[in-house]
Amino acid sequence: LLHQETYLANGDLKTWEGKKDEVYSTISSTENYNKTLLGTVPHMDESAALEVLDYACAAYDKGKGEWPTAKVSYRIKCMEDFVVQMKKEREKVVKYLMWEIGKSLPDSQKEFDRTVEYIYDTIEDYKQLDRDSAKFSKRDNVNAHIRRGPLGVVLCLGPYNYPLNETFALLIPALIMGNTVVFKPAKHGVLLLSPLLEAFRSSFPRGVVNIIYGRGREVAAPIMATGRIDVLALIGNSKSAIALQDQHPHKNRLRLVLGLEAKNPAIILPDADLDLAIQECISGTLSFNGQRCTALKIIHVHEDIREEFNSRFAKKVDELKFGNPWEEKVQLTPLPEPEKPTYIQELIDDAREKGAKILNEKGGEISENYIYPAVLYPVTTEMRVYQEEQFGPVIPVKPFNSIENLLDEIADSNYGQQVSLFGKDIEQLAPLIDTLVNLVCRVNLNSSCQRGPDVFPFTGRKDSAVGTLSVHDALRSFSIRTFVASKDN
Ligand code: G3H
Repeated sequence: LLHQETYLANGDLKTWEGKKDEVYSTISSTENYNKTLLGTVPHMDESAALEVLDYACAAYDKGKGEWPTAKVSYRIKCMEDFVVQMKKEREKVVKYLMWEIGKSLPDSQKEFDRTVEYIYDTIEDYKQLDRDSAKFSKRDNVNAHIRRGPLGVVLCLGPYNYPLNETFALLIPALIMGNTVVFKPAKHGVLLLSPLLEAFRSSFPRGVVNIIYGRGREVAAPIMATGRIDVLALIGNSKSAIALQDQHPHKNRLRLVLGLEAKNPAIILPDADLDLAIQECISGTLSFNGQRCTALKIIHVHEDIREEFNSRFAKKVDELKFGNPWEEKVQLTPLPEPEKPTYIQELIDDAREKGAKILNEKGGEISENYIYPAVLYPVTTEMRVYQEEQFGPVIPVKPFNSIENLLDEIADSNYGQQVSLFGKDIEQLAPLIDTLVNLVCRVNLNSSCQRGPDVFPFTGRKDSAVGTLSVHDALRSFSIRTFVASKDN
């Protein structure tokens, strides 16, 4: 049992005296559902959250604070100290990723290692940014010394599916650019940050990094309502992002860095290599049970090959191994959100009522914290599974005849993150690719959708994102170009 009753604020690990939230593991097996108490975290109220905000504002001190005015070399040193200490906690953090959100051992290790690499890449890019900024430009006898300055106080909210990596993809660039931060981890995956609190405490000056725990509407909304937040950085759903923006009394001043929903489609053309397409669609739809914003959330298969694709794909889905995250070669794991199996069941029921069938034998088998992925066919636009971002183990498959109509359908979607295109004749695909990149932000040729490598731009059109997250872009998203001008006399 890990008792995590402390929180980090104003450079101290404070002991929590108030109400506590209990955190349970998601472990299970198909027969025995085990709900083990892992620990507790503070359940803050509005006044506690506002007190934490005060610390972040005091450390920023309207731009006059030690951190926003610090030298680049000092911020780099703090970040390097942090990552060195963080690496020592790998085993603990990985363990909590498995227990709290049910991520498999290799994926949990990957999440940790990827985050460490992200921090090192950020440090390197920050050095480069500083070198570039140090260049003078001159025009009409005016010399400009360009710099990159912080934006102020940032409120960061991370998601449960990458509670370490994606939270840090916001937090780390925000910090290194000289902002001060209040961050709120998602409900699932809060304990895994506890082994890192001491590293934050000892690496950064007072008040620069602060944590709040609790429900968004109870702790994040009141913080926004003060109007003292300069940047809202959130990876999660649009509903939460909009609700928080609406709280801010001066919305025009608020900078946004948002990674939101997506409904990434796979398009399987008649000449696709079906072995490859099936393999990529399996990982694309079901890695971490489909709980990824980049997951393939609908498969469009051409009529000419749909029979072969459907039967082979459904068979492969039934071959996947479900089990606890620490078991070997496990591909499907328990779902951390207790309400998710019921929600997925509702999507399946709705699709079946409207004419779809479950193609795989195990599809829809339900246990207390799992539902086996169902392959649904033929899916139509009226079905909820077509319209909603399922963010879980259910796979809608829709047939198509005309690529023109399919492009219209993708263009009319509320989302625009990525697409996976499967076909062999790359030259013939060129015009299609040229159109698709105008509808989404990344076209994956003969491969599933994904965010990485983290140095590549990660963004989306329409309701999928605001701003770009990559090592390179995030540093710019959390800063502003300023300059000192002087005239030649
Ligand atoms: O949930 C959204 C994540 O950005 C997905 O990242 O493609 O590396 O799994 P990933």
